[in-house]
Amino acid sequence: MTQKLHKHPLTPLLRFVSLHDTPKCVDLSLLSLAFGLASAQYHVYRPNNQVVFGGDDDTTQTQSASAAAASYTGAAAYDPTVLQAPAPPNPPVPTNQIVQLFSGGMNGLSKQQHGAFFGFSVEMSVATHILGKNSSFVQVPFLNLMANIKQRAGWVQVRIGGNTQESAELVQSLPNGTILAKDLLNSFNPTGTPPLAYTADLLYLMNNISALTNTHWYLGIPFFNTTPFALGILEQGQTILGNNLIALQAGNEPDLYAQPPRTHRPTGYGPVDYMGDIGTLVNQVASDSLISIKDNLFLIPSITATVWKPEDVWNTGIVQNYTNSLFGLAVERYPKNNCAAVYKTGTPVNPQEVFPDYLTHDSSSSLIAGYVNSAQFAMANNKPMIMFETNTASCSGFPGISDSFGAALWGLDWALMMAFNNFSTALFHVGGQNAYYNPFTPPPTNQSTFRQWTIGPIYYSALVMSEVLGPSNASQIIDITQNPFTPMYAIYENGTPTKLALFNFVTDPSGANDWTATISVGGGQTGQPGATPSSVKVKYLSAQSVASKGNFTWANQTLGNQFQSDGRLQGNLDVQTVNCDTTAGTCQVKVPAPSFALVFLTDSAFSAVTPDVPLTYSTSAVTRTANTIFIDPSMLATSNGHYGMEDKKGATSFGSSSGGPALWTFPVHARLHERPVLRI
Ligand SMILES: *[C@@H]1O[C@H](CO)[C@@H](O)[C@H](O)[C@H]1NC(C)=O
Ligand SMILES: *[C@@H]1O[C@H](CO)[C@@H](O)[C@H](O)[C@H]1NC(C)=O
Ligand SMILES: *[C@@H]1O[C@H](CO)[C@@H](O)[C@H](O)[C@H]1NC(C)=O
Ligand SMILES: *[C@@H]1O[C@H](CO)[C@@H](O)[C@H](O)[C@H]1NC(C)=O
Ligand SMILES: *[C@@H]1O[C@H](CO)[C@@H](O)[C@H](O)[C@H]1NC(C)=O
Repeated sequence: MTQKLHKHPLTPLLRFVSLHDTPKCVDLSLLSLAFGLASAQYHVYRPNNQVVFGGDDDTTQTQSASAAAASYTGAAAYDPTVLQAPAPPNPPVPTNQIVQLFSGGMNGLSKQQHGAFFGFSVEMSVATHILGKNSSFVQVPFLNLMANIKQRAGWVQVRIGGNTQESAELVQSLPNGTILAKDLLNSFNPTGTPPLAYTADLLYLMNNISALTNTHWYLGIPFFNTTPFALGILEQGQTILGNNLIALQAGNEPDLYAQPPRTHRPTGYGPVDYMGDIGTLVNQVASDSLISIKDNLFLIPSITATVWKPEDVWNTGIVQNYTNSLFGLAVERYPKNNCAAVYKTGTPVNPQEVFPDYLTHDSSSSLIAGYVNSAQFAMANNKPMIMFETNTASCSGFPGISDSFGAALWGLDWALMMAFNNFSTALFHVGGQNAYYNPFTPPPTNQSTFRQWTIGPIYYSALVMSEVLGPSNASQIIDITQNPFTPMYAIYENGTPTKLALFNFVTDPSGANDWTATISVGGGQTGQPGATPSSVKVKYLSAQSVASKGNFTWANQTLGNQFQSDGRLQGNLDVQTVNCDTTAGTCQVKVPAPSFALVFLTDSAFSAVTPDVPLTYSTSAVTRTANTIFIDPSMLATSNGHYGMEDKKGATSFGSSSGGPALWTFPVHARLHERPVLRI
């Protein structure tokens, strides 16, 4: 059986594919007619393979159907499935919990963290849909979403990459002035992830976004082909992005490269072989005169840890051997996967059954367990530890979980757990229309003139995390959780406790599971006099239920429900002031079921992350409405101007075995493989 082709077009390029939503064989004759070219028959076959999923795939091409949303046939990003909130725990959460903080510091604080800790990982194939069409046509909602975080944290981190980066080609130009094109017709990658072609204008687009929002970027070296590596993205990335380029991934999920049916590396490819590839890369960089900065470039190994353990990689000596070339250490992790539902292999997970797994501190503490040692190893080697790709579940997430308020709480707890354990950054993945977990989703292209963006719960996690950490670069986190349904963390800056992050994972409108933190500062450990403030300010992240899919608010402001956001917070800011009992030296802060409360213990901590005037961009961009048809350039790439498409990759021979002439003579404007790298 063959996977279905893309159901939910994102761009004009993808829209044409939706015309051919045929399981086995795609007839492109209509297309070539529409394009005014000689008509011919094209048969495009997709491989039929079982895939090991660790990280996520390009979710634009997965189907939206899932067990729980069986009757819904639209894009996953708008799936209406609402689950039931788990029943309140028995016994209920402790209704009063004492939170004793100490001025001067506490044992076990994390290292100092910057406010851009929580960033985004954008699948490369959807980059233009999310960022903009070209360097002079930027998506305004995206600018606003990044600006919100910049105003709180000072800057933003975004990765453009994913499985689709691995065979991406930087080309001189693409038809119709487009800057990124998906090679749907040449999808030889056993994950079914089609290769990409893009132009340097994608990098100019990114740099323009940086100029407005102080966004800094991660990219990736295509790693499938090592002979030689295509380093155009590094050469051009350095030239165009300058300091806005943080680092490049050297391999995305290499522990899966040889996992059947993938054949990106020979069977048995292991950590030592990966180190060999890094050596090849480092040598090639050394002799590439177009690369001006050769140190601190790469992130390794970005494994899923489903096949190799991080320690297997560290034990090779790779970090010490290549320390000058390495920017940092990276891993990718999704706690669960929805692959069975998406790919119709095996028994689908029932989201309702696993929903409670996300609504407890045990989720983050068990997820971190496999990385505590690695984060310490990274620090010992003076490298940042980066969670390069994560989200609620791979293979697009789960309907009703990934897009629920519960996911906002889960994402915050997971990010805080990583920060506490000395990770330096965590990037939450953004897929296409067919992902449930997107922090933000632009409307389908054919609706972009009358609809706005959909902001998911994970964006709220990011926004709140930017306030939790703030702009000081000095926030130190400590996990002081007493009950798994009510995680709590304290944030210290330069020895002073400045904030408290308090959770309630329970949904209980009766109030029986609301809890109150009784906070006091000072004394104890350091012997200093009591320093409990006379009042504290509190911002709440709220929704009616953990199962809610809308009406999320952060300090009463919202980014709207489906199709309602231009990236600006709407509504009046509502911050609670809680007067403390100065005699007892305690402040009582209520944490309703469900909610998250950020308690500001100092005025400066509050004002640093509470902009008076939001930095926003108005929507002046217009989306073109006329349909366009895009002809895939890598058809040329593999064909020298002729393409016979058969059930094998890169078929180029004339009239070969497909049982009929399958040739298409194409205008000569590109021989992309001959000059895949743009050099200036
Ligand atoms: C994180 O790093 C700090 C040093 O900055 C250290 O004291 C702390 O123990 C580390 N935490 C963990 C969980 O390793
Ligand atoms: C950028 O995209 C817009 C919208 O499609 C288009 O009008 C404009 O001509 C493009 N600019 C360039 C330089 O290609
Ligand atoms: C965007 O980038 C182009 C270069 O490609 C530049 O000419 C243009 O001025 C930039 N626009 C903005 C708003 O920075
Ligand atoms: C947009 O395209 C999708 C898929 O081709 C189609 O189902 C939908 O009706 C279109 N919507 C509009 C408003 O044209
Ligand atoms: C935090 O670090 C960033 C990046 O290194 C720097 O630009 C910023 O000025 C620092 N902020 C403070 C308050 O030191």
